[in-house]
Amino acid sequence: MAELIHYLHQQKEDNLSVVNHYGYEQAEKVCRFHSSFPEYTVTPLVRLENLAKLFGVKDIYVKDESYRFGLNAFKVLGGSYAIACELAKRLQLPVEELTYDKLMAPEVKQKLGELTFVTATDGNHGRGVAWTASRLQQKAIVLMPKGTELARLEAIRDFEAEAYITDVNYDDTVRMARKIAAECGGIMVQDTSWEGYEDVPLHIMQGYTTMGYEIVQQLQGVRPTHVFLQAGVGAMAGAVAAFLADYYKADKPIITIVEPEKADCIFKTAKADDGRLHNVTGALDSIMAGLCCGEPCSLAWDMLRRYADNFASMPDEFAAYGMRVLGNPLSGDTAIVSGESGAAGLGFALLGRSDVHANSLLQLDESSVVLCISTEGDTAPAKYRSIVWSGEYSLDKLSSVEK
Ligand SMILES: Cc1ncc(COP(=O)(O)O)c(C=O)c1O
Repeated sequence: MAELIHYLHQQKEDNLSVVNHYGYEQAEKVCRFHSSFPEYTVTPLVRLENLAKLFGVKDIYVKDESYRFGLNAFKVLGGSYAIACELAKRLQLPVEELTYDKLMAPEVKQKLGELTFVTATDGNHGRGVAWTASRLQQKAIVLMPKGTELARLEAIRDFEAEAYITDVNYDDTVRMARKIAAECGGIMVQDTSWEGYEDVPLHIMQGYTTMGYEIVQQLQGVRPTHVFLQAGVGAMAGAVAAFLADYYKADKPIITIVEPEKADCIFKTAKADDGRLHNVTGALDSIMAGLCCGEPCSLAWDMLRRYADNFASMPDEFAAYGMRVLGNPLSGDTAIVSGESGAAGLGFALLGRSDVHANSLLQLDESSVVLCISTEGDTAPAKYRSIVWSGEYSLDKLSSVEK
């Protein structure tokens, strides 16, 4: 296993203080909004005791977001909270006063009128926006990049959204969505920021803090020492890292950000360390579809440069390994159906623990308590089966690949 990990960058200490918009108090408010939906339940935090023993760490916890609102992924947390903030603004109410029931009241609906939410997505974010729009009896237009699995498109159309696959990559699809929103007077609900567009991504990131809020309750005082978070534009990782930094203060866990090597814009930005964001262009063709973003979210980077300790760029095989381990647990551990983007953090953590060089940076040992988030279930079921059942993307193929 040695020498499998080729790209792991350790960040210099950065003690800059900053206003943290993703802390415990904020998360409590966000979670209150989410819990007003009839579909809300706390997603499981699974303890994998036997896997921990096998890999020589004290404990491994995995938050299973496949149970989120019946949508098979965490992403709806961001889109729904951002939509709530947008509606609160239009209703001239503090967002804390909005609940699902209030938003469904006929007089509120009448005041809001017909709205169209527009977004670009690799799948899960768009599904969350389409679901929220449909629950609130509003319209959604969702654009998806070239190469998107048809199952992901259909999963969005299931919620009566107008959804299309474009012939360009993710970042160009975002630009197309912006144009459509401008033309149709729609409300852009995008999970990445650009100049003049920071409120919605801020609210989306705040939406993700519900996961952190639930996790610290579920851990009942156990402190994770090592957290592995997967990144696309970095919004989820940035929000959760900032939440954990606020909650644990001086005892913040070591946070490692993982990305597919074909879309490692956060890794490249960390490594360059020149105060600029670094994009990745081209097809961005990784199996980790949710992480195939070439342009970091600037708001998210602002959190990650402060609170993340390590940045890793990894091949698809690492995520596939994580999917197989989670789906086929050791006797006594609970199985987790985790998709390509969902299993990236755990896949990297386990392989990092087994790699002498990587582990000298990660510092995992017998006293470590590892926390990962399985951010999605089998959102592309045929791909899930080909990886988990038929062994596609096995680690054996990796050793022959020249890096
Ligand atoms: C399942 C899954 N995990 C993780 C991510 C990464 O989130 P972010 O783009 O905020 O970094 C995504 C993004 O779409 C996703 O769909």
